[in-house]
Amino acid sequence: MTSENYVFPRGFVWGAATAAYQIEGASKEDGKGPSIWDTFAHTAGKISNGDTGDIACDHYHLFSEDFLLLKHLGVKAYRFSLSWPRIFPEGKGQVNWAGLDYYDRLVDSLLTLNIEPFVTLYHWDLPQALQDYGGWANRDLTGYFADYAAVAVRRLGDRVKCWTTINEPWVVAVLGNMTGEMAPGFRDRKLTAQVGHNLMVAHGTAMQAIRSIEPNAQVGIVLNLSPVETLTDDVYEKKAAERAWKATSAWFLDPLFQACYPPGALRDLGADAPDVKPNDFALISQKLDYLGVNYYTRTVFGAQGEVKKVPGSEYTEMGWEVAPESLGRMLVRMHNDYRLPPIYITENGCALDDQVVDDHVHDTRRIKYIHDHLVELRKTMRLGVNIRGFFVWSLLDNFEWHHGFSKRFGLIYIDYPTQKRIIKDSAYWYSKVISRNEVHR
Ligand code: FCB
Repeated sequence: MTSENYVFPRGFVWGAATAAYQIEGASKEDGKGPSIWDTFAHTAGKISNGDTGDIACDHYHLFSEDFLLLKHLGVKAYRFSLSWPRIFPEGKGQVNWAGLDYYDRLVDSLLTLNIEPFVTLYHWDLPQALQDYGGWANRDLTGYFADYAAVAVRRLGDRVKCWTTINEPWVVAVLGNMTGEMAPGFRDRKLTAQVGHNLMVAHGTAMQAIRSIEPNAQVGIVLNLSPVETLTDDVYEKKAAERAWKATSAWFLDPLFQACYPPGALRDLGADAPDVKPNDFALISQKLDYLGVNYYTRTVFGAQGEVKKVPGSEYTEMGWEVAPESLGRMLVRMHNDYRLPPIYITENGCALDDQVVDDHVHDTRRIKYIHDHLVELRKTMRLGVNIRGFFVWSLLDNFEWHHGFSKRFGLIYIDYPTQKRIIKDSAYWYSKVISRNEVHR
């Protein structure tokens, strides 16, 4: 028990998040086309244990059951993504109405339960047909993405108020095209920079499309942000850390809020810098209704820019340091550097080696993790940073990309062979946080 309690403002949005490919399964059902993640997962050696998202949590069929659990826990908002190839099997052209009907049912079920849907249009599952066309390196995709956004908003926009264009462009660009850990699995620096840029332009074209159909929609983008910190005040360490922040997080924040790339980072890219068209920054820097921040950890740098492990720190199953205070420091810095819109923490949580004991999962480390981040968030709000809500990643254990099912992030445990759901202790704890609107332990 901590002595201090942290009360949140009335109306604070308490949520949980997922993404289509990670939970839905039904990878070929009702006319869905293949995505780059279907292809990647079925390529030998790409995913731990050879796992795929073919079935995942079978949420495609079990969503009603999952939403009852959400309701049971009192979660107020649910962030999920639409699968582009479910709606456009070829990425463009012919709409697959059955795919759209599915999301219609999801939205109606949520609203019946009084749970607010937060819809993400792109959480990484690009239609394979568009990859065959050059993927995000092909600028035509910025138009196809806007067309897809328009179809989704025309169908769901009367009920869905909060839309996210793209989830984590840094991950899509860098892990998909530079390190190759993720789909489509390339290793090419120039390609990476162009993909990153085209994603930001696509964010802009989709925003325009959404607003032209639903002027009152709340539209934002979600970035994965991670401060780069040092353990000492050594100037070389500080310089290396600052350079890394500019090349990663500021690389996406600056275009959104200052209509340019960080000049130093752009220079560092040299001939690999992206091709930017005259109107691009105007498109990218349109006013956001909110910024989504996904936060898990910080990076600690040495003087040569080498990543350091921090003695005495706790690390999760992802190998990520638990660093709640860095979240506060980063948000304050962003608040000083940019004119920020309201912020939602759209993902926060941790992977642990959860064990089922007599039908229970006693995930006390997850409770502490989320608790400590919420405490930090509440303190940061008192400093004037406008934070509107918080979404736990994730509602369910799920397909953690190239790690397959080996990493469990859920508030709810999934026994994959039987698809049984077990509510973890952290979910019961989070439920109390929500009902009291305050953090306690
Ligand atoms: C984020 C992703 C999400 C999940 C978490 C752990 O980068 O948006 O899908 O994989 O990390």
